[in-house]
Amino acid sequence: MEFFKAPTLFLVIVTLTICSSTSAMNSMYPSHGPNKGAYWPSWAINFPPSAIDTSLFTHIYYAFLSPSNITFKFEIDYPTALLLKNFTNTLREKVPPVKRMFSIGGASDGPKVFSRMAISYDTRKSFIMSTIEVARKFDFDGIDLDWEFPQTPIDMVNFGHLIHEWRVAVKEEAKLTCRPQLLLSAATYYKPEVSLDDVYRKYPVKSINKNLDWINAMCYDYHGSWDLTATGAQAALYDPNSNVTTSYGLQSWIKAKLNKEKLVMGLPLYGRTWQLKDPSLYGIGAPAVDVGPGIEGQMPYVDIEKFNSQNNALVVFDSLTVSTYSVSGSSWIGYDDVRSIKLKVEYARDLKIGGYFFWAVNGDQDWKISRQAYETWTI
Ligand SMILES: *[C@@H]1O[C@H](CO)[C@@H](O)[C@H](O)[C@H]1NC(C)=O
Ligand SMILES: *[C@@H]1O[C@H](CO)[C@@H](O)[C@H](O)[C@H]1NC(C)=O
Ligand SMILES: *[C@@H]1O[C@H](CO)[C@@H](O)[C@H](O)[C@H]1NC(C)=O
Repeated sequence: MEFFKAPTLFLVIVTLTICSSTSAMNSMYPSHGPNKGAYWPSWAINFPPSAIDTSLFTHIYYAFLSPSNITFKFEIDYPTALLLKNFTNTLREKVPPVKRMFSIGGASDGPKVFSRMAISYDTRKSFIMSTIEVARKFDFDGIDLDWEFPQTPIDMVNFGHLIHEWRVAVKEEAKLTCRPQLLLSAATYYKPEVSLDDVYRKYPVKSINKNLDWINAMCYDYHGSWDLTATGAQAALYDPNSNVTTSYGLQSWIKAKLNKEKLVMGLPLYGRTWQLKDPSLYGIGAPAVDVGPGIEGQMPYVDIEKFNSQNNALVVFDSLTVSTYSVSGSSWIGYDDVRSIKLKVEYARDLKIGGYFFWAVNGDQDWKISRQAYETWTI
């Protein structure tokens, strides 16, 4: 928390005279154009930050950092510090520039640490101050919280407190240091109401509108290895038989009165795979017995394209769900290709939401999908 130490008084005086004229300091996102994001997994060793084509994105997220589960502060070791510096330095030098975000948590972190952090003012404050320190030290433009997911109604209330106090803190810090306010975003469930594990809870939409610049709604993982009995479209835009869809999720956020421009639609750059029970029954919802090729039933788009051509797979576009699947023998892969991505981005654009993001940037093949999305929703 260096900015609260000795130079504070000096900074306050300078702030009053210089910062007061910079209106940029107070401008909340969005200032212009759609949000076109992508997460960069820091474990993608064959895909360094330098490989990212920044002309296709507006925001790139470093995934992930985790706070200590005791102090709720970030204890960044030397190799991670090097990686963070490399990420921000590399992206700063790129033309055109992109906003550099760091993302906290992720699916593998689990929800418990955030639940414990968010429970009291003091633990929230430790966490918040540490996020700001990391952002400034490593030259990030903003911070993204991937708490997957708040588990109880109390967690949701505390999530609301957290983002309120976070906003107060980044405003204060911007004033003190005369710098643009750090951006604040969060990755959320695909819809505002969550009933996983039979516990109903709802995101604090009012607090989100007031305190976050945007949310990344994770519009994928609707079907996967947790249900091996049937194939599924893991990121279906529509589904005649269910509400577990991207259209339902986005519409639900809007119905819950989230400011539309703060809603960002998730798009997967990976597919999910099953082993068919009977290769002659291969539609969406066909009986399955196990996961298919890939790692634990998942495969990046770039590998799917390879698999399809090496195995001479049958590729089918399904207009009911707006998704694509490929079949080779008993191997079945459901995914998004340029066609489904185009239709989904058109859907999001016509809804006038804030934009879209990809998980994850290293899954594309020769930027085919990212470019299709970018060009479909031109500024
Ligand atoms: C904190 O993390 C450590 C290391 O991952 C783990 O062994 C420990 O059980 C965790 N403590 C709590 C309270 O979750
Ligand atoms: C980032 O790391 C790569 C690979 O280790 C290196 O080639 C590159 O010069 C580094 N870039 C910056 C800006 O630190
Ligand atoms: C989908 O949601 C709507 C409105 O929330 C509800 O009326 C309908 O029964 C749901 N459909 C399914 C298949 O669950």
